[in-house]
Amino acid sequence: MHHNPIFLALDLPRLDAAEALARKLRGHLGGLKLGLEFFCAHGHHGVHEIAKIGLPLFLDLKLHDIPNTVAAAMQAIHVLEPAIVTIHAAGGRAMMEDAKAAAGEHCRVVAVTVLTSLDEGDLAATGIGGTPHDQALRLAELAHAAGLDGIVCSGHEVGAVRRQWKDGFFVVPGLRPAELNGSGRPHGDQKRTVTPRAARDAGASVLVIGRPISRAEDPVAAARAIEATL
Ligand code: C5P
Repeated sequence: MHHNPIFLALDLPRLDAAEALARKLRGHLGGLKLGLEFFCAHGHHGVHEIAKIGLPLFLDLKLHDIPNTVAAAMQAIHVLEPAIVTIHAAGGRAMMEDAKAAAGEHCRVVAVTVLTSLDEGDLAATGIGGTPHDQALRLAELAHAAGLDGIVCSGHEVGAVRRQWKDGFFVVPGLRPAELNGSGRPHGDQKRTVTPRAARDAGASVLVIGRPISRAEDPVAAARAIEATL
């Protein structure tokens, strides 16, 4: 069987609830994504608890500091044996190189390019000209040159990025199953969303899915339904 590309985003404030949900879904997932919120609230203890479930872990920490500090942080999370860790490409080439060198052999280091919360005006206010799209492509190239494993990108971009970076490892969040949105209600035509299947076909290595599963009335059924489309 093909390995399951679905990583569940465990964005739940309570550790016990996150653990219970992950356990229930275990057989329908390829891994679990723990974000900054989880890590700041529950730290290494929380990660160790979730690790007991036995799925690969994606630590979405979006590290961004001077090279020495990011490398030390990578070494400090080594003991957690993450399968994937994120850093910010905006930290620059040396930071990315040092982060990759400090990561374990089995840890994929992937770069966040431009946060999707930023538009052209926000970038201009930070002194960056041009569109978020152009900036994202520039940072993707830099991440590639720095020897990272891949980047985080949207389902709309992953096809183009895959054509440029053939053996890249691409993490795609922001996905919505065809018939439902995150609240479990059908969404209108006004929303341009990408389905998990479309993202995978376009070259996604990992599909990050949170609320469409975690907030579903029946999370197992939701995960199975998505799995069945892949
Ligand atoms: O929306 P959903 O609940 O599926 O989000 C899944 C995860 O993807 C969340 O942890 C969110 O922080 C992350 N995400 C991201 N970049 C985006 C959209 C979502 O990292 N552009």
